[in-house]
Amino acid sequence: MTETTQDALKFAYWVPNVSGGLVISNIEQRTDWTIDYNRKLAQIAEANGFDYALSQIRFTAGYGAEFQHESVSFSHALLESTSKLKVIAALLPGPWNPALAAKQIATINHLTNGRIAVNIVSGWFRGEFQAIGEPWLDHDERYRRSEEFIRALRGIWTEDSFTFRGDFYRFSNYSLKPKPIDPQPEIFQGGSSRAARDMAARVSDWYFTNGNTPEEIAKQVNDIRAKARENGHSVKIGVNAFAIVRETEEEARAVLAEIIDKANPEAVNAFGHEVKNAGKASPEGEGNWAKSSFEDLVQYNDGFRSNLIGTPRQVAERVVALKRAGADLILLGFLHFQEEVAYFGEHVIPLVRALEQAEAETPIAAE
Ligand SMILES: Cc1cc2nc3c(=O)[nH]c(=O)nc-3n(C[C@H](O)[C@H](O)[C@H](O)COP(=O)(O)O)c2cc1C
Repeated sequence: MTETTQDALKFAYWVPNVSGGLVISNIEQRTDWTIDYNRKLAQIAEANGFDYALSQIRFTAGYGAEFQHESVSFSHALLESTSKLKVIAALLPGPWNPALAAKQIATINHLTNGRIAVNIVSGWFRGEFQAIGEPWLDHDERYRRSEEFIRALRGIWTEDSFTFRGDFYRFSNYSLKPKPIDPQPEIFQGGSSRAARDMAARVSDWYFTNGNTPEEIAKQVNDIRAKARENGHSVKIGVNAFAIVRETEEEARAVLAEIIDKANPEAVNAFGHEVKNAGKASPEGEGNWAKSSFEDLVQYNDGFRSNLIGTPRQVAERVVALKRAGADLILLGFLHFQEEVAYFGEHVIPLVRALEQAEAETPIAAE
């Protein structure tokens, strides 16, 4: 039986801090990667029931993302423009080392009353690492490094005279001052491979995974939570989805069809080649994107697979099905972010809250 939570689901949106939106398609997108657009978007999101915003880190162009703002400084700017929203800044071990990251995030934590969180990403884009002169480690080695990175962050944030002897990082009697104020910055991670799940079950607060059906999400959740329990750890689950919510299902499906019709096949296939190689490099060959079709790959993180495409009621019911499968948070991408974040907050989140309330009153045993 899948373990579910009675807590209200959290909602996050992808910060469009890279150009080209979240689909590799020539469809019109009224989404912009600039700071002015993003400040307003963050304000719209916090006024409409969103809890978190997730920024992205990319060092080079690739498959549509020609321009890319850096994640930590951009996240800080969004925190300065809002008052409640938490912003999750992506950190890529390799370019970042934990000493700098811990210091940077601790300062932003003080500047923003504790609203910064981090997402540790392990890298999928070999060309990016080559372009910036970073060694490209094997798949599972990337996760071994990320795990040391997370252990180092936590140690620096919580201990005085922190000493750590890892294969990638070393610390001797290091005392960070000031440390972050409580609650400590939450540590998210992205990836779905066995190495990613095992790392989540040992050290992360949150596991972010690509879009998928409730059945497939439940398999990941059960695996992670069983392992976490053995480790005396607990981890929450965030699931990606690309939402297309319209008054009628036909309209929503027509938008999806247009996104796919106008996909740029060369860019989608090149992206698919890159990510499938990165995933196959895991010993089990089952990382994110291992089973992605051409259509799935038009959205960077398999967001169509979560099927949040339809009317507000259909989408709210599917959101609750993901919750029943074990999701604690839904991470959302949209075609026209400002308009659609507002629409989602007005028309879908209240229905989700009503359904959650109804389930809390008559709990249904999850399969
Ligand atoms: C929600 C989410 C956000 C991610 N954000 C980034 C990012 O900003 N930059 C990046 O290089 N990779 C990002 N990734 C990629 C992952 O860190 C990882 O490299 C990828 O999912 C493949 O992992 P796997 O082979 O373990 O499944 C993200 C992944 C997920 C699921």
